[in-house]
Amino acid sequence: MERDGGGTRVATDDGATLTALTRGTDASAARGRRARPVRDWATDFDVLESSYIADPFGIWDELRGRCPVAHSGRRGSDWLTTRYADVTAMAHDTEHFSSQDVIVIPLEVDRPEETVLPFGLPPISADPPLHTWTRRLILPWFSHRRVAQYEDLTRTLCRTMVAGLAGRGGADAAADYAQQIPVRVIAHILGVQDDMADTFTGWVRDVLDRADDMDRRVQAIGALVSYFTSQIDERRACPGPDLLSFLLHTDIDGAPVEDGVVIGMAALLLIAGVDTTWSAIGSALWHLATHDADRRRLTAEPDLMASAVEEFLRAYAPVTMARVVVSDVEFAGCPMKAGDKVLMNFPAANRDPDVFENADRVVLDRAHNRHLAFGAGIHRCAGSNLARMELRVALEEWLGRIPDFRLADGAEVVWAGGQVRGPRQLPVVFS
Ligand code: HEM
Repeated sequence: MERDGGGTRVATDDGATLTALTRGTDASAARGRRARPVRDWATDFDVLESSYIADPFGIWDELRGRCPVAHSGRRGSDWLTTRYADVTAMAHDTEHFSSQDVIVIPLEVDRPEETVLPFGLPPISADPPLHTWTRRLILPWFSHRRVAQYEDLTRTLCRTMVAGLAGRGGADAAADYAQQIPVRVIAHILGVQDDMADTFTGWVRDVLDRADDMDRRVQAIGALVSYFTSQIDERRACPGPDLLSFLLHTDIDGAPVEDGVVIGMAALLLIAGVDTTWSAIGSALWHLATHDADRRRLTAEPDLMASAVEEFLRAYAPVTMARVVVSDVEFAGCPMKAGDKVLMNFPAANRDPDVFENADRVVLDRAHNRHLAFGAGIHRCAGSNLARMELRVALEEWLGRIPDFRLADGAEVVWAGGQVRGPRQLPVVFS
């Protein structure tokens, strides 16, 4: 963890382990060595630089103006997109841009024999045809109708937590609240006991928050895979009404889904569903803690919640994804070579003034908001209905009981960045 100049700290949260552990890449550039400061973001960007993690918005504005597709030789990435049109075009161009490596910061793998996820994390790390049928299998579990069935559980969870915090006068809105919600909801969908939630959170944090501790990351993914392996044996013998049992009892062209694919899918749902949504809830609470007028307005006009949720997702989109260039291509005037890694910067696209009026302002009742927080094209987020519901309910329950809150005096907000940006420590006070 590094410290920047102000009351904000940053944690590297790059998600690098996934590729490292699933495919055994050898991106040696990424191993945690101390980086030199960036002098020119157009030719030498570093998405783990502390100033970028804490406040990337001005850097994106500058790049969009003078070099919308930036270049770098650092941390295994070659290109970084910042314009809405480019990001959208890339997300739709699966002919030139593959999802075989979607991890923003790759890490060196010393022990490729320890590859524990031979199919990766489908559908997110797969191209068609594996992508197509694995995505089709999970989509119904996150339809509007299904997600409505998870709302009561989410609301009760949030309400109970807020009731426990309300009398305390202060809390860490990220660790004590935002972080606790998505893991419990996805555990329920996967059919995992509630008392595993904290263990899951620990594994996901180890996988995603520990760019500098490969052993810990390897252990966490290993633990996750062993856990789902043991669950597979149990569910095969004794199926329940849950997603894991469903995957195990489904046929594809007359054959069962291989265990390795089921484990990869379960691991993805946990990793993709937890860190992202907790970051989105945390960023929204950070905004409300630091913008009095918006907080008062949203409390006084709860009907604004639907558009406010979209606006928080636009303005503080947590997720950046990578793609690998399949064959040489000129993209937005840049000569990309086969094997180059491109960062599809959905958060920067969401701040593009060519598409969004007052792009750098949060407008709670923004009327037109075709943001890219959930991506675009064939990999567009399969859990977006669930994420929206969790974000809405988390904010409704918090504001319903704690309408008046702000950052604690001298508060140190810790931001994670890289693949998923969001606050990991958010001390607030309230009366
Ligand atoms: C605010 C919260 C979330 C954000 C911002 C988010 C963002 C994204 C983005 C940008 C992608 C596209 C990846 C790409 O193009 O490579 C994606 C894919 C995906 N997300 Fe989410 N996500 C969130 C929550 C969730 C949740 C709650 C789940 C389910 C539990 C989920 C499951 C998935 C899956 C399965 C994919 C892969 C889809 C595919 O490859 O076809 N996400 N997400």
